[in-house]
Amino acid sequence: MSRTVLIGSQWGDEGKGKIIDVLTANVDWVVRYQGGNNAGHTVEIGDQKYVLHLTPSGILRDNCKCVIGNGLVVDIIGLMDELTDLAKRGIEFGDRLFISDRAHIVLQYHKELDGAKEGQLGDDKKIGTTQRGIGPAYSDKVNRTGLRIGDILEDDFLDQVKTRAQTKNEELACMGAKPLDIDELLVTVKEAADYLRPFICDTVPLLHEAVVNDDEILFEGAQGVMLDVDFGTYPFVTSSNTGAGGAPAGSGIPPNAIDRVVGIVKAYTTRVGGGPFPTELHDEMGAHIAKVGNEFGATTGRPRRCGWFDGVVARYSAMVGGINEWALMKLDVLDAVETIRVCVAYECDGERLDSVPASIRKLERCVPVYEDFKGWNTPTTGCTSWDELPEQARKYVQYLEDLTGVKVSILSVGPQRSSTLLLDR
Ligand code: GDP
Ligand code: IMO
Ligand code: MG
Repeated sequence: MSRTVLIGSQWGDEGKGKIIDVLTANVDWVVRYQGGNNAGHTVEIGDQKYVLHLTPSGILRDNCKCVIGNGLVVDIIGLMDELTDLAKRGIEFGDRLFISDRAHIVLQYHKELDGAKEGQLGDDKKIGTTQRGIGPAYSDKVNRTGLRIGDILEDDFLDQVKTRAQTKNEELACMGAKPLDIDELLVTVKEAADYLRPFICDTVPLLHEAVVNDDEILFEGAQGVMLDVDFGTYPFVTSSNTGAGGAPAGSGIPPNAIDRVVGIVKAYTTRVGGGPFPTELHDEMGAHIAKVGNEFGATTGRPRRCGWFDGVVARYSAMVGGINEWALMKLDVLDAVETIRVCVAYECDGERLDSVPASIRKLERCVPVYEDFKGWNTPTTGCTSWDELPEQARKYVQYLEDLTGVKVSILSVGPQRSSTLLLDR
């Protein structure tokens, strides 16, 4: 049995939802450990498409218990809406969803503040957040002023919300933003609190018992290492630790209980929102990848910026994340590309760099050093085994393995469950 962490290893949207869903056929638990409903994880099963924001992607398999861990910031109204929608679509989760009483709550005022803060920044400084209140909610957590999911169980919960909403309204007014109608807020908060109450519990002993029982556990990362608040392109990052290190902190599972880390990477790179992106393509090739890859944000619908595979980013993520193996996604999107470029290093101020610098000013000056790779010009989506893949596609995969020093164990050639190759070479 194993405890596996799956992490995004670029700037998010690598295909984490799909891989979690593929792997959950034989898994007992799926645990989200950071982020909030800034995440959008897509799972396509037959003609059904699900986009999950807070609910762990294991919810779509009856055999799987799902935990929303202490490390998340939970928009309780958003979660209620998401679960109501899943229930309408026939998904039953009454006895297999557990929400940590230590997770923090996101309320409407966090979202308003998120928007107001972004509005105050100039165009080149805007982070391009998802406006889901993530930064302000994590700020409250570290400021020790946040409300936690467990507070829902206290008699004075609504009074606590009211007091905070009054303070936040003052803050909003100072920023020139419209204050919230507190009575209206309390009505929706009460509805969400009532709906979520049965799912709230102390998930720490629950997961501890799962470890003792040697259950199979998957930890579902959100975002990606380059959006990590410590290791990403700060300040153009999200507000949590997105890498494997976030899993113990955000779930209460001990670090030595984790025995495998799978990094999810696309065969190219995308990013939504602001911030440096050395291999970004501003030409027809970028538009081609965006179109074939259907690169639009699953949460905000914004077009994703597209570029070539960045080996510096992948090596750095593997180093920071302790990645044992790759799930390489969306290889099919490159099927018709004649010459594929791969960034093997950066050049900056006359110096060659093999790792991602901390300074984004420096990263903005980095020019990718590319190696060119002949494409395969054959569809890969129908391929069901390594041997069926076009030879050039196999060479591309092996090339990325050599470049990053990490083997590909899962290869994805389409959005469906069935378009997934578990490689055993
Ligand atoms: P996540 O946030 O990491 O879960 O990724 P998203 O769901 O935001 O974005 C990934 C998108 O790529 C989704 O629309 C998936 O359905 C789609 N997808 C996943 N794997 C593949 C693949 O191998 N090929 C293609 N063409 N699409 C894929
Ligand atoms: P999944 O889990 C891609 C980006 C935003 C913005 C920055 C900060 O689907 O991969 P935030 O709202 O978190 O304060 O925004 O992070 N971002 C994502 N980009 N995928 C995500 O999640 C993201 N979650 C946040 O676009 O640049
Ligand atoms: Mg996504």
